[in-house]
Amino acid sequence: MNTVVRIRRAVVTVLAMALMGGAAVPALAAERDPMTPRVPTDQLAAARQLENPIPYTSESVGKGQKIYRGRGSCNVCHGETGQGDGIGGPGLDPSPRNLTNTRWQSARTDGELMWVLKNGSPGTPMITVVPGLISEQDGWHLINFLRSLVGK
Ligand code: HEC
Repeated sequence: MNTVVRIRRAVVTVLAMALMGGAAVPALAAERDPMTPRVPTDQLAAARQLENPIPYTSESVGKGQKIYRGRGSCNVCHGETGQGDGIGGPGLDPSPRNLTNTRWQSARTDGELMWVLKNGSPGTPMITVVPGLISEQDGWHLINFLRSLVGK
C-alpha cells in the first residue's frame, strides 16, 4: 500500500470513528496549549528561519485552498473554515488546532508550519503530510492559504 492510500485510510478511519458515535458524538477535547512550539527546541531556530519560497498571491492562496479541501483532507479535522471543528474532530485528543487563532498564527513562522507538515505534531493525531500526501511545494501554497484565514 502506498503512503497516500495509507494516509487516506487513516483519515477515513478517523471519520468513521466520529460517525459511529451516532447520537452520542463525543465532545470536542481541549486544544493543547497552542502557544507552545511544536518543533523540538534543538530544531526550532532552523525551522523558524526557513522562508516560504512561494510569494503570497491570490493564485497561491487559491491553490492552497484546493489542497486543504481536496488532496490534503485538512478540512476533515480542521473544518471548512479552519476553526478546528471538522467532522473528524470529536474524539481526537488533543483537538485539532483552530487555524484562525490570530495569536497562534503570529507566534508561528511559515518554517515552523512546514516542520509540522513534514513531521506532524508528535504524540497527537496531527499526521505527517509532506511529502507522502502532498509535495513540499504544495505545502507552501497550503501555508499561504492558512495565512489568508487571518487575512494576512
Ligand atoms: C486526523 C485529523 C487531522 C488532519 C487530517 C489534519 N490535522 Fe492538523 N492537527 C490535528 C490535530 C489533532 C492538531 C493538534 C496537534 C497539537 O495540539 O499539537 C493539529 C494541528 C495542526 C497545526 C498546528 C501546529 C502548530 O504548530 O501548532 C497545523 C498547522 C495543522 N494541523 C495543519 C494541518 C493541515 C494543513 C492539514 C492538511 C494537510 C492537517 N492539519 C490535517 C489533526 C489533523
